[in-house]
Amino acid sequence: MKIHVPRDAAARAVGADQVAAAILAEADRRGIAVTLIRNGSRGMVWLEPLVEVTTPEGRMAFGPVAASDVAGLFDAGWQGHPLALGPTEELPWMMMQTRLTFARCGITDPLCLEDYRAHHGLKGLHRALTMTRDAMLQEVIDSGLRGRGGAGFPTGIKWKTVSDAPADQKYIICNADEGDSGTFADRMIMEGDPFTLIEGMTIAGLATGATRGYVYMRSEYPDAVQVMAEAVRIARDAGLLGPSVMGSGRAFDMDIRVGAGAYVCGEETSLLNSLEGKRGVVRAKPPLPALEGFFGKPTVVNNVISLASIPVIFDKGAAYYRDFGLGRSRGTIPLQIAGNVRRGGLFEIAFGMSLGQIVDDIAGGTATGRPVKAVQVGGPLGAYFPRALFDTPFCYEEFAGAEGLVGHAGIVVFDDSADMLKQARFAMEFCAIESCGKCTPCRIGAVRGMETVDRIARGDAAAIPLLRDLCATMKSGSLCALGGFTPYPVMSALTHFPEDFVPLHEAAE
Ligand code: NAI
Ligand code: SF4
Repeated sequence: MKIHVPRDAAARAVGADQVAAAILAEADRRGIAVTLIRNGSRGMVWLEPLVEVTTPEGRMAFGPVAASDVAGLFDAGWQGHPLALGPTEELPWMMMQTRLTFARCGITDPLCLEDYRAHHGLKGLHRALTMTRDAMLQEVIDSGLRGRGGAGFPTGIKWKTVSDAPADQKYIICNADEGDSGTFADRMIMEGDPFTLIEGMTIAGLATGATRGYVYMRSEYPDAVQVMAEAVRIARDAGLLGPSVMGSGRAFDMDIRVGAGAYVCGEETSLLNSLEGKRGVVRAKPPLPALEGFFGKPTVVNNVISLASIPVIFDKGAAYYRDFGLGRSRGTIPLQIAGNVRRGGLFEIAFGMSLGQIVDDIAGGTATGRPVKAVQVGGPLGAYFPRALFDTPFCYEEFAGAEGLVGHAGIVVFDDSADMLKQARFAMEFCAIESCGKCTPCRIGAVRGMETVDRIARGDAAAIPLLRDLCATMKSGSLCALGGFTPYPVMSALTHFPEDFVPLHEAAE
């Protein structure tokens, strides 16, 4: 009997390890031979721990399973148990997705290279090794892939800038400092399909002439750190990394680095400082990291999802990937749905689905059953969308047109009990706490912002234009996105929910 129990941190947090142990103990007690595989998560977080049993009809899902359910599941022959959900692939959540980047996540054993190969793994790298560097760069440009960290800069253009820069050493840095609230796509793929990131980074190295890579991870992701480190070791032992990638005579090797944990270290120049052993303070741009990055050398800094999307582009071709999406937003985007929702988790879909469909149909509305009031998209620096903007298609330009941002595609839902003035204050407070302190609009502005919101809460209407003014200054005068984007949540709260800013509020705590 073959049983899958996720090893993903979200599943472990709700008892997956205990469920796995209970399955082995119960099978042993009954004399049933069980092969237990610790897979990644399928992304249906509300069903975790989601246990799957392989049958002649495919993998059957059961969830959420507690250790105390295990004996009953065996008693019922599994299929007859009330926790039986049917074939995993036929669950509506799975059927509605277009899984390209996350195609293997939850299916394979994350640390089994054979399993990876058996599910299209390394096909992209094999093809890349038959191509010239120029052809590889053109493939990425043609795919339309844009930076999934949030800024949406064309990945192929960034790679070409690094490739064209003359230097004796170049680097590929994977930004795995996933700090946005409500986001977990980077963590999920690193824990559930680490070889795809290694394959993507290797292709990036071959295309740009970079022979060294680092994954900069956050210490808050200990499971991901452990899986990635083990995957790198396995890849190196198998000859995927090293002086001759898969016997090609072309070199690329990589390592893991763990940051101490600061939101601003997700900003690429601050990350580079941290990686160099310095304090995580933002550097002025220019020079761009693509020209003068890690230790002053040309460096690709890409988000995990950007790099993890590269293998499928090389496996299936740029045209295949580009075919998905809307307007200038090509390919798929792994949405991370969280907050007050009935169904939260990872949902990969082509760009273009409306925000309303995502919230109402995919997430199933609020967990509390109360009306949705606001949806924050793009992390703590993202705008709050009211229902009136729910027809906005999930795309870079369309979200920018609505004064918002796609960011890292984290979606946090709030019901009508949310107080948007308090949310605006929280944004300023977050910025004040996380500010690296380098520039005045952010360092001082965020503190003045908290005070100004408190004045509004006390009924001082004159503070509202002051808050607008302050936001305009922070937006145009800050050195990086932390100070520059904090106005998004503040101004969207003020614009779309003015009623929360009018009455006399108690001073926000
Ligand atoms: P940016 O627009 O300054 O740059 C985007 C990327 O393009 C950078 O890597 C930059 O070096 C590169 N670039 C720009 N022009 C280039 C050129 N001509 N040639 C080559 N490369 C070029 O944006 P930034 O400040 O790097 O990122 C801001 C974004 O980060 C925001 O949209 C926000 O959503 C996101 N963010 C993501 C977080 C996460 O947890 N993933 C956390 C916080 C913010
Ligand atoms: Fe540092 Fe804030 Fe200025 Fe960014 S905006 S450089 S985090 S002080």
